Parts: sequence; C-alpha cells; structure tokens
Amino acid sequence: MAFVVKKTISGNDYYYLNENKRVDGKVKTKTIAYLGKVKKDAKKKAEEIIRKMNKVKKKKIIQIEQVGKLEKVNISIDDMTSFCKRKGFVFRSGDIYGGFSGFWDFGPVGVEMKNNLKKLWWDYHVKNRDDVVGIDGAIITHPKVWKASGHVESFNDVLVICKKCKKPNKADKNEIGKIKCDCGGDYDWDNLKNIEQMFKTTVGLDTLAYLRPETAQLIFTNFKFVYNTSRLKLPFGIAQIGKSFRNEIAPRDFLFRLREFEQMEIEYFSDPNEKCPYKFGKSWILVYSEEMQKKNKEPVKMKFKEIYEKKIIKTDWHAYWLEQEFMWFVSLGANPDNFRIRQHVSEEKSHYALDTWDLEYNFPFGWKELQGMANRTNFDLRQHQENSNVNLQIMNNKGQKILPHVVAEPSQGVERAMLVFLFDSYYYDKKRNNVVLKLHPQLAPIKAAVFPIVKRKEFEKIAVDIIKDLRKDWNVVYDKSGSIGRRYSRNDEIGTPYCITIDEDSMKNNNVTIRDRNTTKQIKVKISNLKNILRKLIDEEIKFEKAGKLISTRIK
Ligand code: GAP
Repeated sequence: MAFVVKKTISGNDYYYLNENKRVDGKVKTKTIAYLGKVKKDAKKKAEEIIRKMNKVKKKKIIQIEQVGKLEKVNISIDDMTSFCKRKGFVFRSGDIYGGFSGFWDFGPVGVEMKNNLKKLWWDYHVKNRDDVVGIDGAIITHPKVWKASGHVESFNDVLVICKKCKKPNKADKNEIGKIKCDCGGDYDWDNLKNIEQMFKTTVGLDTLAYLRPETAQLIFTNFKFVYNTSRLKLPFGIAQIGKSFRNEIAPRDFLFRLREFEQMEIEYFSDPNEKCPYKFGKSWILVYSEEMQKKNKEPVKMKFKEIYEKKIIKTDWHAYWLEQEFMWFVSLGANPDNFRIRQHVSEEKSHYALDTWDLEYNFPFGWKELQGMANRTNFDLRQHQENSNVNLQIMNNKGQKILPHVVAEPSQGVERAMLVFLFDSYYYDKKRNNVVLKLHPQLAPIKAAVFPIVKRKEFEKIAVDIIKDLRKDWNVVYDKSGSIGRRYSRNDEIGTPYCITIDEDSMKNNNVTIRDRNTTKQIKVKISNLKNILRKLIDEEIKFEKAGKLISTRIK
C-alpha cells in the first residue's frame, strides 16, 4: 500500500509517496515520488498518482507518517549540485566568472571519489580479467580517424528552439516532431539546425584537428598493435578511461550532460560465430525492449539468462556484458531497483550500431542513459582498414583471418556513475541531524578520520603516528578542531566510513575506538591491530560488530 511520508530536513518539511512491498518474505519500503513541501498539495498529488497506479476510481486513505532512523532521501538534481558544492565534491568551472556551461571542476573530496571510482572500474574490468587489457590514447589524434569513423559526417545534434521560452534544445532523431519543451511550449520544428558535436582545434600552424568525442576510436586504431603485443586470443577486450569532449547544445542536469567528461569504455572483440563461454548470474532487472516501447507496454522484471533465452536480447555476449555492468554498480552499493535496460528503437540507433541497449538509471529527472552498449559489428575496423589501407585482420581460433566483431561496447561516463553513487547513498539521520552519505567504503573519498578526543599533546602524538601509518595505504585525515559531534557529522556528510578516536584508554591500554558511519556503533581495537581491521572493514571481509569489542555510547 502506498502512503505519504513527511521528512523534516534542516527544519523544512518534505513529502514523499512511499510504498511497502514484500520482497523475498521481507517488507521493503520504496519511494515512488517526491510530492513537494506543502502537506495539502502532497496529499492531492499522492491521490492522483495512486489513482493512476492502481487504475482504481475509489479514493484511497492517505496517511502521513514520520520515518525514524536513517532515512533515504531522494533529492533533486539542483539540491545535489549545491550539496556537492558545499561539501567540496564538485564546483562550477570558472565559477568566479559566472561559470561556464557544461564544464565542472572536482574539489578535494570529489577528485578522491572520482579516482576511486575509476580504479574500481579498472580493477573489475581489466585487472581482474584475463581477457581484457587497457590502453591510454591521445585526446587529439589524426583527423582522418574521425572521417573514417563517420563522426565528421554524422556526429551532429539537431538544435530546436522553443516557440514559447525561446530556449535552444537538443532533439534526438526519434524525438523530432514528437516532444515539447520543459516549459510546456511547442518547438519550432520547421527551423531545425544541425550542430556539429566535435570541438575543432588547430595543430601547428593550421592543421584542422578534433578533440575526441569518444575514447573508442583510439581502441580501434590501436587494435592490431595491442593484438600483436599482448598475446591475446579471441574473444578479448580493450579498455580505456579518458576524457571526451562534445559540444552539447544544451548541457544540463549538473554532471549528467557535459561538454567535457570522462569515459570508461571497452570494445569487446569476438568471432561472431563463437558463443559466449561465460555463465549468466542470477540478477533481475527491468527490461524495456523496442517492442514494449512501440506497443506502449510497461517494462518487465526478468533475469538476464531469461532475457537472452527469449531472444529479447539477440546475442549472448550482449546480455552477458549488460549483466556485468549492472552488477558492477550493485557490487558497489547502488540500489538495483533504480536500474533498467532499454533497447534503442530503430530510429535512434547510431550509424554504426546493429543493436544498442542502454543501462538506464532512475535519475530525479527520469529514466536516463547511464551507459550505452552497442553491438558495433566490425563497422569500425572495416572503416579504418579501408581508409588506412592497413590490414587489420587477425586469426580466429580456427586459424582463419577475420575482422572481429565488437559484440558489445560497455561505454560509461565517469560523472554519470558518480551521480548514481551519490544519489543512492544520500541518507539523512534525524537524531544526528545531518546527512549521512552511505558510500561504499572503497568509493569513499576518505577512508578514515583520526581524532584525539580532546586537544592533549599525548593524544595528538598517538593520532599522528596512526595517521602516518594508515596514509601508506589510504587517504585518511587528521581532524582535531571542533566538538567531537561536529567532527563526526563533517565526516558522515562526505561519506567517511570510519572515525578513529584516541582517548585515555589509548594511553593506558593501547586501544582506539572505531565508529561506524552508518550505525554510529563503536568498537575498541588494539592500535597494533588497527590497520589490519580497517583493511578488512574497507574490503567488506568482516562485519563491523565482529571486528572488535562493541562498546555502548551516546548517539554520536
Ligand atoms: N563509444 C560509444 C559512445 O561514446 P555514447 O552513448 O555516446 O556512446 C557513452 O556515450 C556514455 O558516455 C554514455 O552512456 C554516458 O554515460 C557518457 N556520456 C556521453 N555523452 C555525455 C555527456 N555529454 N556528458 C556526460 N556523459 C556523457
């Protein structure tokens, strides 16, 4: 049953429509919609949504409930933007000059989180696999690359102006004539303009070149060199993380649509006649195929194995990689209910794609592409082979020379991934009266904060020694200013999973206290064991309660 919940944050009331559902024998609460700040309007909105959901004419009884403990708070993209600025995650680029649309800078905790995210992606996709190797290509490369890839000719956006608010916007191919502006106004479909998305630059005196709009092409142009030097056999992947640039018509939604961003991409090459040797996992996901979209059907929850067996996704490789990508997010703490996979309808597919599925996330502004995954066939290798006159064929496992196919191209924006983890970890604790960013410890910008409980030379010396030791492995901070409660909340808000305090007991018995961000529970451990325990906690090898002697504490 759905019900309205009031949450009070920093003295302001916010209303949400929640629903309890029994999943695997347990009752789980999910937020269905944000209803605004006014109780009366919230009730009205809720009734409307419930009526639509249940298609029931009868009026429902709506309850207002206060939720206790740690609460999941679904904030807007604007609230997330200001939170990130306040806490030092992300700043508008050139803010002191009014900002520069589509460009953002990462602050002290933002850069740490971003580096962790990229390293975790690399570990999962490259370091821990036998069949994927990496490269790091140049941002500016030979301009002929972009001619051969089709970007010079086809990488354009359609610009359309709203007749009412006069704002320019981007329209996807399949949206032309069908969509309205956010302000409710109609677009001027008779005066469309094609805007080139690649940024141009000059190299040397006057050689025209481009900033790369995707990292993928550098993988294709280096394909044969990587093959010749890596002792790889089909199937294999080549991965890359790096900057990409697109002259977006309407950059918006904070880190969602940028003009300068980073991509984490894999081109996975195989002989199209060979089957995927890997087994599917057991995860469920919402599926939204082209057929469902065209017949106005709702997405359906299914297992990946079933999605492939029913031929909703046509190749095993495509289904396998979509599950891998979904699982990467879930393994790092993202909420699986916020994901779905959506097939591109024929009208929106890129020039190179045989079939494309996006991994989508339920952002506060709706379901949007988080990751694109196209089956590019051997389009790119063929194009580069023809345009360069260099033979890019390699041997398949039957000893035949072939141009392998890219059966799946997991392609992911670093900043969009960061948004997912920020949204899914944003909680509030009424008792503590602060935000608690429940980031996975491996993603957290700071792994531990070390405090002397009060300013005392003897405590400070122990703290400094501990810090020196922990810094060899992690980003940790030393914080000795402000009340202990203030220091805890400062760290809760930026997602520091563990706070370590030095007190009298440290002097007498060589013990320190570790406090857990999510529960505020505290354990005592020996200083000599601290690093080992912290490692197990960060790697999630041990439960907090089992890592030391649990002690009773006040709220903070
Ligand atoms: N090589 C394939 C490719 O680039 P894409 O769907 O255009 O495909 C892949 O981009 C991913 O890159 C997207 O799913 C998104 O995560 C990220 N991305 C693309 N354009 C972006 C933009 N303007 N701002 C932020 N991220 C972007």
